Amino acid sequence: MNLILLGAPGAGKGTQAEAIAEQFHIPTISTGNIIREALKSGTELGLKAKSYMDSGALVPDEVVIDIIKERLAKEDCQNGFILDGFPRTIPQAEALDRMGVRIDRVVDIEVADEVIAERVSGRRVCGACGASYHLSYKKPQVEDVCDKCGSTLVQRKDDHPDTVKERLQVYHAQTEPLKSYYEAAGKLRIVEGQERVKDTTALVFKALEDLV
Ligand code: AP5
Repeated sequence: MNLILLGAPGAGKGTQAEAIAEQFHIPTISTGNIIREALKSGTELGLKAKSYMDSGALVPDEVVIDIIKERLAKEDCQNGFILDGFPRTIPQAEALDRMGVRIDRVVDIEVADEVIAERVSGRRVCGACGASYHLSYKKPQVEDVCDKCGSTLVQRKDDHPDTVKERLQVYHAQTEPLKSYYEAAGKLRIVEGQERVKDTTALVFKALEDLV
């Protein structure tokens, strides 16, 4: 099963990708996580991406296309994968097509901008392993401590309100047109994001049921 998750920043792509990966035993490929890892380890890619990411802009297409090419060639993608955060522009989607990558379904998670702002401001992530939490919806067992590795939770730099506004504008201008792109290809399913994570997950699984 080769999937793409579309949606605004904070719509719940990462959260739903985790549920799908667990259910169908396929890896999640998050370009955002790959770039954050590169930043942490101070690689050339990380340095190139930092200023774009911190300001809420997209990293240049050629940089992320190279990341995806390399990642999709790995052994663990042979039985399927979930793309979380890629493609994010029409040229990225076209590059994926040119690579000959078959996509079975594109699930777009729709959440209103006002809800996004609230969700993202409450998000906390583990500075070490990247696990994601929320101050109200997904609390760690011990305040500010990661359940998985015991490290301290932090707020992502691009989750500050002004940057979120910018990320939403970028989403509407550059990523939303992908809905029409994949609708024209007959691959798009729209899921209305629900208040509770598990209710959204049920709808996402329903959108995949004919592929199983
Ligand atoms: P990236 O890391 O991909 O960020 P994003 O798309 O902006 O998405 P988020 O991680 O913010 O949110 P999400 O939809 O995964 O939501 P989550 O599940 O965490 O990208 C960051 C940056 O990297 C970009 O701005 C860009 O600079 C660069 N980049 C990455 N890919 C790129 C590409 N292809 N091209 C160019 N540049 C690229 O949920 C959000 C929060 O809400 C969580 O805390 C969750 O617990 C909570 N929550 C509350 N209620 C719910 C609910 N009902 N369902 C789900 N989550 C809920």
